[in-house]
Formats: sequence, C-alpha cells, structure tokens
Amino acid sequence: MNWKSTVEQWMPKPLIAPLKNLRQSIHLYQDSWAQAKRFNRSYSRIMPHERVRIETRVMFLSHQIEKGLSHHNFRYGFGKKVFNELPTLLTRLEQADLNFANNTVYKESLAALHEYMQRHLDAEKDISWQQSLFTTDQWQRIMNAESNDGGSISIRKSDKLNNKDLSFAALSENRHSVREFADEPVSLDELNQAIQMSMRTPSVCNRQPTRVHVILDKEVIAKALHIQGGVNGYPAPPALLMITSDLRAFMTSYERNEGYTDGGLFGMSLLLSLESLGIGACPLNTMFTATAEKKTRKLLHLPDNEVPVMYIEVGHFLDETRTCRSTRFQGSDITSVLK
Ligand SMILES: Cc1cc2nc3c(=O)[nH]c(=O)nc-3n(C[C@H](O)[C@H](O)[C@H](O)COP(=O)(O)O)c2cc1C
Repeated sequence: MNWKSTVEQWMPKPLIAPLKNLRQSIHLYQDSWAQAKRFNRSYSRIMPHERVRIETRVMFLSHQIEKGLSHHNFRYGFGKKVFNELPTLLTRLEQADLNFANNTVYKESLAALHEYMQRHLDAEKDISWQQSLFTTDQWQRIMNAESNDGGSISIRKSDKLNNKDLSFAALSENRHSVREFADEPVSLDELNQAIQMSMRTPSVCNRQPTRVHVILDKEVIAKALHIQGGVNGYPAPPALLMITSDLRAFMTSYERNEGYTDGGLFGMSLLLSLESLGIGACPLNTMFTATAEKKTRKLLHLPDNEVPVMYIEVGHFLDETRTCRSTRFQGSDITSVLK
C-alpha cells in the first residue's frame, strides 16, 4: 500500500473528495503556469533569428499576400504593412537556411510576391516602392519565381459536383478554404447533415465535448466576424458555425487542453463533410483577446462552461473564386522517427 492510500484510509471520508478536488485545482494553476512559461520560451517573437521562428512570420505575411490576391475586388497597392516586414525576414531566412532556394516557405513567399508584382505590372501600376524594399538578388528571384509554389488558385463550383464520390485522398487534396460565397442561403438541413456526418469523430473516452452553434442571422454573423477580425474585407458568409468545447466533459487539470484537441478533430471532420457535400467553408481562429472573447460570448450567448475552439464560415461555392494556394511542407519535413 502506498502512502496516498494509507492517508486516505485514515482520513475522515467526507474530507477525501474536497481534498482531492483541491489538489486538482492546485495542479491546474501550477501546470498552466508551466505551460505559459514553455509557450513564452518557444513562440516566434518579433524579428526572430532562428529558422523555424523566421519561417512562422514569413508564412504569416505571405498568407496575407495570398489572401489579398484572392479577393474578388482586387485592391491594387494592398499590403503596405506586409512589405514593411517581409523583405527583412526573407533576408534573415536566407542567413538562417543556407539551402533557402529550396525552402518551401521561402519559395511560397517569392511566388506570392511574384503574382502580386505581375498583377500590378499587367495593370500598369507603379511598384517601384515595393521593388526598393528588396535586394537586387531577391527582386530577381521574385521575378523568376514559380507560380506553382504559392500565390492564389482558382476554385470552380463545377469541379465540386462529384465530391461525394471522391476517394478520401482526392477529397482531402482538393479541399481549400474559400472566403467568398454565393448569395444562396445554406439550409439548416444541409448543416445538420454535415454535422451528423462528423459525429464519428473520436474524442477522449468518447466523452464528446464538442458543441456546434449555428449562426444564420446576417447581422450577428457580420458582428461576430468584425470582432474576430480574420476575414476583414470579405463579404459575410451565409452561415457561420462556432465550434466550442464543453468543459464539463473533463475530469482533471491534466485535461485542460483536451477540449481544443477534440474540438479541432471535430472541426476537421466537419470541413471534410461539408466539402464532400459540395459546400464551401473556411475555418477561422477564435484566439481572442479577453475583450473580444467577452464580446463574442455575449453576442452568441455562449455558456460560461464552453470554450471557443474555432469558427467555420459556410456557404455555397461561387461559379469561380480565387483562394490562397497555402502550399504545404512534405510529410517527411514534419516527421521524425524514434528508433
Ligand atoms: C484554426 C484555424 C484558424 C484559422 N483562422 C483563419 C482566419 O482567422 N482567417 C482566415 O482567413 N483564415 C483562417 N484559417 C484558414 C487558413 O488560412 C487555411 O486553413 C490555411 O491557409 C490552409 O489552407 P486551406 O484550408 O485552403 O488548405 C484558419 C484555419 C484554421 C485551421
């Protein structure tokens, strides 16, 4: 018998549960603090020097360019903030990765910049300011970049008609987030079908903490997305889903992040379910500031015991729309094998 069991045996019974719960609360604060310290040690701060942290910021900025290239109403000259940061980061990436010419993130950035410059040149717009920010070598590489490496791609409604018959590999390969949708409403039946298709998503001990809040009111959608801030400049979608996790499904402090894992898995199932039904979608982050979270909770009447995991914008595909290419690493780039 270990010391814990011995103590429990001698302790008055009514005290055991409250003391165990107290111990969990202490763990929760200690472990959350350790987690905060690890995050603080690791995340990509402004102007990093290490390769992966530089790549993080280059990807973030290149994605802003790809999003700008995807707008139906293309805004010439967009991206001033991006251009103030990206050239320096590209130079840092050249220094941090001697093989930068084959670096996926570097190549995606050049390709997005190439499309940006080309579209401006085609429209006879002045890009001398943008050019002045890059080194001569970088500019040469931008001009010669491969368009398959990054930038925007076209998505056609006609290509989605047979989605339900596609293999998993084909469905997954052809799914892209779209941020512009047809005006046609999305029915509750369509959404319920996709949600039902996602119900086989696994969760810890099958406790199924995920909740889905369906928002169809245009005004509420616009307000929610205004607070969220990640799709500014795009028209509001016909439907917005808020995926949350119900914290009442968890039992110990060690499970404090499990809702995000289970909710994230459910979100992916839902994205693929929608895609297989030929319906367009885009996941959106719910990494709110405290103020934004408070406003969102009030707007959507979210119960205190639920935490936001992600939004998913949903709508029918336009006949044709553009979206970010969002180039991926190779599987081998992210895999390490313990022998
Ligand atoms: C959790 C999560 C949050 C996201 N947040 C945003 C967002 O706030 N704004 C946005 O435009 N896209 C957002 N996205 C969409 C990503 O940009 C997109 O998934 C990524 O570029 C990969 O492209 P793909 O979905 O077309 O494969 C988010 C995606 C995920 C998974």
